[in-house]
Amino acid sequence: MSARHFLTLLDLSAEELDYLIQRGITIKNRLKTNGPVYTPFSNRTLAMIFEKSSTRTRVSFETAMAQFGGHALFLSSRDTQLGRGEPIADTARVLSEMVDAVMIRTFSHAGLEAFAAASAVPVINALTDDYHPCQLLADVMTWTECRGPVKGKTAVWIGDGNNMCHSWINAARQFDFQLRICCPEGYEPREDIVAAAGDRVTILRDPRQAISGADLITTDVWASMGQEEEQAKRERDFAGFQVTEALLDQATEEAIFLHCLPAHRGEEISTTLLDDPRAVVWQEAGNRLHAQKALIEFLLLGRVA
Ligand code: CP
Ligand code: NVA
Repeated sequence: MSARHFLTLLDLSAEELDYLIQRGITIKNRLKTNGPVYTPFSNRTLAMIFEKSSTRTRVSFETAMAQFGGHALFLSSRDTQLGRGEPIADTARVLSEMVDAVMIRTFSHAGLEAFAAASAVPVINALTDDYHPCQLLADVMTWTECRGPVKGKTAVWIGDGNNMCHSWINAARQFDFQLRICCPEGYEPREDIVAAAGDRVTILRDPRQAISGADLITTDVWASMGQEEEQAKRERDFAGFQVTEALLDQATEEAIFLHCLPAHRGEEISTTLLDDPRAVVWQEAGNRLHAQKALIEFLLLGRVA
């Protein structure tokens, strides 16, 4: 199987990722200037398999395909044969006969890898329990748009060492910035993922100390999809880890705040944080569209610039 897949940020080289960020910015600017006149995906189809809920991911991938002249196919595990036990590898082989790429949002990262191993067409990770690399393309694009090159800067992750945190760690490796992770004991990211990042990543316990002098602050929900029954315990365990305007005041004057969304106001963020000018979360959400256009274009057509 020779297709390139995008299961984590480590599947592309640092140089390819830099290209994607710049290409996403170019695609966004050209859309604004020229309208949706660039249609490189004519007659191309993206299958989108969703085993978890989504707003941004579904809308951004579907719109990306439509604006680029192609087609997106929404497949819920509830009403496909996947939900009735058809093997992952069989599904991958069948889809490879018909579509040009597959996007998957699922629970098990190993399941995603099994799908990709059997797929003859590119497979894109649209979130697993372990990683969310497409979100990081939009996040690094947003940081770059707001503040220029991210190399050598300092980002802070406050909260759960979850799928988003793991992708931030991989981003620190690939884009060469420092990442401070501030989480309660017992909620650290996976040790192997942290270790592979070397001295780019540090783990701290005190949010004020972590944020001091930082260029970017980000967080995520305390209970991710699939952890709903842990909500009450997590609310207790994460007390003191809420990101507030006063906490952001400890960062540099130029610091920005990102959140992949959806957000739980009053839990991981103060009720008013998303209204603060340092929060660029709507731009970040919109950049899912442009960054993923760059990604699909790269996987289907290679470099075009
Ligand atoms: N950030 C993100 O992936 O949002 P959705 O769950 O709405 O797709
Ligand atoms: N960590 C969150 C991210 C949602 C986009 C989750 O997995 O539910």
